[in-house]
Amino acid sequence: MRIKERVSLDYGSLPFAYLKTDCNVRYTWRDGSWDDGVESDSEILPLHIAATSIHYGQAAFEGLKVYEAKDGRVFAFRMKENAKRMIHSANTLLMEPPPVELFCRAVRRVVKLNQRFIPPYGSGASLYVRPLLIGTGPRIGVRPADEYTLLVLVTPVGPYFKQGFSPTKLIIEQTLDRAAPHGVGTAKAGGNYAAGMRATMKAKRAGYGEALYLDAKEHKYIDELGAANFFGITKDKVYVTPKSPSILRSITNMSLRELAPDLGYRVEERPVALTELREFIEAGACGTAAVITPIESITLDGEEIVYLPDGKSGPHCTAFYERLTSIQHGDAEDKYGWTEELEI
Ligand code: PLP
Ligand code: COI
Repeated sequence: MRIKERVSLDYGSLPFAYLKTDCNVRYTWRDGSWDDGVESDSEILPLHIAATSIHYGQAAFEGLKVYEAKDGRVFAFRMKENAKRMIHSANTLLMEPPPVELFCRAVRRVVKLNQRFIPPYGSGASLYVRPLLIGTGPRIGVRPADEYTLLVLVTPVGPYFKQGFSPTKLIIEQTLDRAAPHGVGTAKAGGNYAAGMRATMKAKRAGYGEALYLDAKEHKYIDELGAANFFGITKDKVYVTPKSPSILRSITNMSLRELAPDLGYRVEERPVALTELREFIEAGACGTAAVITPIESITLDGEEIVYLPDGKSGPHCTAFYERLTSIQHGDAEDKYGWTEELEI
């Protein structure tokens, strides 16, 4: 099957922003079971004024991308991993976890219904799928809701960081923390993003692309960015990425770790000390929205550690980017079984 009719948009210059599409899907968990879901063309969600999501933060989301391949087929990237992570987030926030099968069914359904918004192969854009799980049942005492909604919306997007695959500058955030070691940093909880907004806006006002967080306990180790994981490359071709109890387990990072040996890199997933930043020859941010964003420099205590003096991506980030995106777009063989064809 091929996309029959596509909405006319300037797909090559789409920002990473919300754009209204044809519909979203909504599933409700009530009295012990999930319903069959409804399709809605409304952008409005009727919500109880005492819903736990809006009072007590029972809210988590996911993000995955759908691509059109050269032959017109449509693929989702590692959808089941997102489904599993949503279960982890739900369990962390004591929400009802949607089964993997339901999550994937919801994604397939909403993509099919909005197929005319799938960006064309080669445009650099993709269809971003945003599943959202919220407590919709009312509570005034602090405890889990008795009703949940899984909503999935889609929107066509371009690159998250300005100019796409071009380097960005980061600043180490020394005074604000994103998540505590025994907190909910491994969940894709909406509250983690609210917690990070001060640091992100502070970094942007100072002219940086994003803030880079440290571990909240000692401020000695790298955690992650507000919306992406971190990795560094050593001169001996080692891909080093933080192991931390307070970061989101990025599916992109997981994929890069699996790709690394095939590209001739060794992988070390371990605590990464701040002092090691000067030893990396390249560094990058990775995530669904960020894909791989090469890091031009990191500012620490007023000193800029520069990785890319000419402001262009280096060979290591480029090699990872090309291999990853060629699998995602269906250009390279997917021996890992990451891409899943969707019916349109
Ligand atoms: N870390 C945070 C805080 C994120 O929001 C994201 C985005 O999803 C990531 C890491 C990257 O995760 P993934 O590669 O699964 O998109
Ligand atoms: C993603 O990469 O899917 C994210 O969730 C980042 C988002 C917060 C913009």
